[in-house]
Order: sequence, then C-alpha cells, then structure tokens
Amino acid sequence: PRRVVVDCDPGHDDALALLMAAGHPDVEIAAITTVGGNQTLEKVTRNALAVATVAGLEHAVVAAGCDRPLVADAVITAPRTHGASGLDGPVLPAPTVALDPRHGVDVIIETVMAAEPGTITLVPMGPLTNIATAVRREPAVVGRVAEVVLMGGGYTKGNITPAAEFNIYTDPEAAHVVFAAPWRVTMVGLDLTHQARATEDVVERFRALGTRAGDFVVDMLDFFGPAYRAEQGFPAPPVHDVCALVRAVEPDVVTVRPGHVDVELRGEHTRGMTVTDLLGREGRDLDHLVATELDVDRFWDLVIGAVSRLD
Ligand code: BDR
Ligand code: CA
Repeated sequence: PRRVVVDCDPGHDDALALLMAAGHPDVEIAAITTVGGNQTLEKVTRNALAVATVAGLEHAVVAAGCDRPLVADAVITAPRTHGASGLDGPVLPAPTVALDPRHGVDVIIETVMAAEPGTITLVPMGPLTNIATAVRREPAVVGRVAEVVLMGGGYTKGNITPAAEFNIYTDPEAAHVVFAAPWRVTMVGLDLTHQARATEDVVERFRALGTRAGDFVVDMLDFFGPAYRAEQGFPAPPVHDVCALVRAVEPDVVTVRPGHVDVELRGEHTRGMTVTDLLGREGRDLDHLVATELDVDRFWDLVIGAVSRLD
C-alpha cells in the first residue's frame, strides 16, 4: 500500500480526500495533520476528527499543527467557500477518534523518520506552514520522503487573487521553503483541479451509495456547490484536494510535465503566485512536476469507488 501523510485544513474537498483515502484499498494513512487555513486551526481540527470518525479511521493518528502562517499574525480563512465551521452542510458526528497530543509538525517528522526511507508520500492540501516548519526543524525529512504531492498554486491562474491560489497565498513564505527544498514536488494546481468538478451526475452517484459516508458527501456538496457558484461562478464545484491524493495513489490519472516553480513573495499584484517555468529558461532545472490534465472519468470512478467501500 501507498503510505501517506495528509496535511489538511478540512474544508469540503479536504474531507472528500480523507474519505477517499480511507476507502481506497491501496492507501494507508500514516497520519493526518491539520493546519489553520480554510478556518481556524481549532475548527479544522474538529472537522478532521469528525471526518475521520465518518471514515471509520478509529486508530488514525490525527494531530494539530500550526495555527497561523510563518509571517502573518493570523490565518486568512475562507468562510464564503467552506462556511463558518469550515465544513458547513453535513451534521458532524461527535468524534470517536482521539486527538494525538503531539504537535502536527512533530508527527510529520517522527512519521517520516521512523519509516523506511522513500516509503512515505506527503500530501499537503492546505497552507504549507506545517511542511515548511518540518523542513526547517528536521531537514533530513527532505531526503527521506518518497515524494510530495500537493494541492496548491497553478501555472495560468489564481483564485483568491488573479495571480495566486488560496493555499499558496495564505502562506507564501512557507510555500517558498517547500518548493525550494531539494525534493521533487508535484504541484497539483488550479489548472488541473478545475477539471474535477462534482456535477449533478456525480452527486447522484454518491447519493445512490445509500451509505453514511455517501450521504455525508452529498450533504457536503449540497453546501459546497452553491457556495462555489455564488463565489466563483462555477456550475459545479471543483474538488481540488482530492486530485492531489489521486495523483499520489494512481499517478496515471493525472498527466504531469516537468517544471520549475518559484513562489512570488514580493509582487505588488502577484504575491503568492507560483511562477512556473515549463521551458527551462536561463538554465533553470525542471526539478518539479506540474499537473496538467485529468482523466475525469477514471477520477470519479476511483473516488466514488473508494467511498463506496466505507459504511
Ligand atoms: C484550496 O483552497 C481551499 O479552500 C481548498 O480546500 C483547497 O485546498 C483551493 O484553492
Ligand atoms: Ca484544503
């Protein structure tokens, strides 16, 4: 099985990614760590525990990480997209999964360092604060993980600003640390994730499962769909974070190209932009991978198939 550490800020799409990971037969969730992002750390951590409960992950390690970006004093939340709770829509069960008392960054480091080299895939789907802090605290993690497959950025567009995507914009300095470290990052950005839209058809397939997990997804999409329509004019909401997980687990569902990514830290209009070089200009090393194209049918078959294995 593919062993993953999911660093997240649930968040509707984070939550669907966790359900998918829990249901996929070849995925083992080594740890779930949370980071302030879509909502405050306290709220997203509560949501993560509730989703882990729905997913039947009783024995999962869930730990809370950083509550704010490296430089800014407070997290920029996304209540218009994810609601006041960070996961509006479904009724959240009282968690039966316990919160690990360790700091999320320590959990990331300890999990990676305890595992055989090259066996853990990091899948960040929120601001990159925890990952950057782990890199600074224990640089040896960089050589030790199998790969980093993150949802963030984009090479042609932003969402929170015309140039920048939410996860990168909310902590650009952390994103800089992650992209500049000597490991290979796969950037699953907006160009890719906007292809993964939960259309009415998809919602009906989740409804037809007739399970608690299926109904939970329907309740999430009943909030997330209209929120996305009102906020960004999408007919159906893109489930960004799920794409990173799918790339980590079934790589050929997501086409990638080699690229180099620099995070804009100073731009007047472009702070948080992932400036992506696909051509190797000025001799730049195309050291990362950039996701370009999604096999949409296989994607939904995989995600719905995984969720169908949950109760
Ligand atoms: C990203 O921002 C968050 O709102 C989503 O959960 C996703 O990780 C998309 O820009
Ligand atoms: Ca997220």
